[in-house]
Amino acid sequence: MRKPFIAGNWKMNMDSASAVSLAQGLVNEVGQCDGIDVAVCPPFVYLPAVATALSSSNISLGAQDVSEQANGAFTGEISCAMLKDVCCTYVIIGHSERRHVIGEKDELINKKIVAAINGGLLPIFCVGELLAERQANKTTTVVAEQVKKGLAGICSERIQAVTIAYEPVWAIGTGINATSEQAQEVHAMIRGLIGKLYDKTIASQMRIQYGGSAKPSNTAELMSQPDVDGLLVGGASLKVADFAAMVKTSFETKGVK
Ligand code: PGA
Repeated sequence: MRKPFIAGNWKMNMDSASAVSLAQGLVNEVGQCDGIDVAVCPPFVYLPAVATALSSSNISLGAQDVSEQANGAFTGEISCAMLKDVCCTYVIIGHSERRHVIGEKDELINKKIVAAINGGLLPIFCVGELLAERQANKTTTVVAEQVKKGLAGICSERIQAVTIAYEPVWAIGTGINATSEQAQEVHAMIRGLIGKLYDKTIASQMRIQYGGSAKPSNTAELMSQPDVDGLLVGGASLKVADFAAMVKTSFETKGVK
């Protein structure tokens, strides 16, 4: 039984006061929930303040990116050890905005996933096709390639640390979510691929989140799909009421009771 996992990606939003107030609001609403994993991923600079706000709750902290390097002369970068030091459990790696806006490639994403696992963090590894790739019927090829390259060299013992997030790029921040059938189709493909790369048990345990215009009104429908184990939420994670509603609906749909 896979425990559902809802994570909020705050992206480059909030200031220190609003970050703390959002975290406190979530602690009040869903801070003690059980049978579902919940995480928020604020900007780096607000991690310590949000960690304090979350400290009496079951909500975990995550970062939005990490360096593949351990330490040294890498101006502007943040290491796994630094993220651990400020109480992060998770780290988002390979988000489409880093792939397509910043230009991160599969090889770098792979190094970051390896560094995160070695550093004791749990990666949320993002994959997803562009609109033009979907329209050209290349979704399976593109996503399968991203999964294979991102997980290259990661052995069966270490893969358990990873959550995969399928985020079709055309659905991110556009208000146009993938239909539950489209999401299920790609999630099932990814799970099948994990079965081939590893084994059936690992595939059956792998949590695969959907991301891309997930919101309260489509949560139940998406979460009711057999291979959708959670959500990676951008815009809707910035509002206490919306994100809390999505956590509660996901728990009702699929929570481990
Ligand atoms: P969105 O973003 O929910 O605002 O579409 C999702 C994401 O980028 O993780």
